[in-house]
Amino acid sequence: MDSILIRGGTPLHGEIPIAGAKNACLALMPATLLSEEPLTLTNVPRLSDIKTMSLLLQSLGVEVSALQDGKVVAMSSHGLASSCADYDIVRKMRASNLVLGPLLAREGQAVVSLPGGCAIGARPMDIHVEALEALGAEIELRDGYLHAVAKSGLKGAIVPLRFASVGATENTLMAATLARGTTVIENAAREPEIVDLATCLRKMGARIEGDGTSRIEIEGVDRLTGATHPVIADRIELGTYMLAPAITGGEVECIGGRLDLVESFAEKLDAAEISVEQTQRGVKVSRRNGRIGAVDVATAPFPGFPTDLQAQMMALLCTAEGVSHLEETIFENRFMHAPELTRMGAEIEVHGGTATVTGVERLKGAPVMATDLRASVSLILAGLAAEGETLVSRVYHLDRGYEHVEEKLSAVGARIERVAAT
Ligand code: UD1
Repeated sequence: MDSILIRGGTPLHGEIPIAGAKNACLALMPATLLSEEPLTLTNVPRLSDIKTMSLLLQSLGVEVSALQDGKVVAMSSHGLASSCADYDIVRKMRASNLVLGPLLAREGQAVVSLPGGCAIGARPMDIHVEALEALGAEIELRDGYLHAVAKSGLKGAIVPLRFASVGATENTLMAATLARGTTVIENAAREPEIVDLATCLRKMGARIEGDGTSRIEIEGVDRLTGATHPVIADRIELGTYMLAPAITGGEVECIGGRLDLVESFAEKLDAAEISVEQTQRGVKVSRRNGRIGAVDVATAPFPGFPTDLQAQMMALLCTAEGVSHLEETIFENRFMHAPELTRMGAEIEVHGGTATVTGVERLKGAPVMATDLRASVSLILAGLAAEGETLVSRVYHLDRGYEHVEEKLSAVGARIERVAAT
């Protein structure tokens, strides 16, 4: 397995391009199942998770072609061969469960493996199941698979979500586009990736209002058409690269980044003495004074502080002046980066869902292990700031969510390279 070697301590200067959003793309791709006509996505990020979703769709009979070096993905679901999402693919990536709603709407049936345990928590599917049952599906768990049928088709309904789950909102939204009558999703998730999905579905002929708010109304239609849609910029990749000059010093402009999608995160950076500015081309970031300020952070659904930036923020706060508290409210086990950061000299204590970070003057390079996608990149950020060499192993997690991370960081002056497994 490859590792990433970082020689820390260099301030970063220059530009980093921000790719299309992984999480938006993983919801947009299954939308192809809703129509017999082709769906083409542009601004697609080149990531292993996108390849996994392509494989899953191909296993269902979708024709998937990656064009322009993978930046464009053209899909055609003219004839579907199967409505079963196999465990072998689903276990690799939880977002595979986003085929459930579209398959059920198009085929009247779907068999989707439960994703199983995930490193950052239990992540069950109960909210998805309740929502689709409200639309008239009958769903049973047998042999580790959800068997869903809608014998006489899906029917619009009021669907209150117990928790504003991103995936459950996306599955329900897609299913409701082809249901008979009106569906109202109450307590819907408001993430920008949901707005991007709704925008694409509208291009395909769906009738949707209220996306981006907690009440989404969908008027079912008989059929959807094809469309071409550019994937929204990745706010999590943006936030991650905004932290790079914050942690090392210097100044970096994240090209294509949108500050309005990371407002609560940017407010915390501001409080930590990091200067953040929306420019014509993206988001420019630099450190204001000598030392980073300590801040308290609690993760929350959008528009709150994203859980997907918590690990990276912790890396920043390791060298802040004073004591910071990070509260994780979305996932129950998302502090696995803390012991690895401690190996680099950080002072972190975790009690339940809260991590207390006492800033140290300098981190020190060490061999560390990536445990999940965002944890891996937090170790890279820490390595950029640390004195000496940091070797991050098990970086396959990184390739799931960050395209060309070494190239992007080298281009702004970081001393970082991939070490191929021997
Ligand atoms: C999506 C993102 C992920 C992000 C998360 C929260 C994608 C592909 N992934 O994941 O990067 O960290 O949103 O912003 O978009 N839950 C249940 N029952 C359910 C569904 C969810 O209990 O049926 C719980 C989960 O265990 C978790 C919480 O709700 O604790 C949030 O999950 P959810 O919002 O559904 O996240 P995902 O869609 O899986």
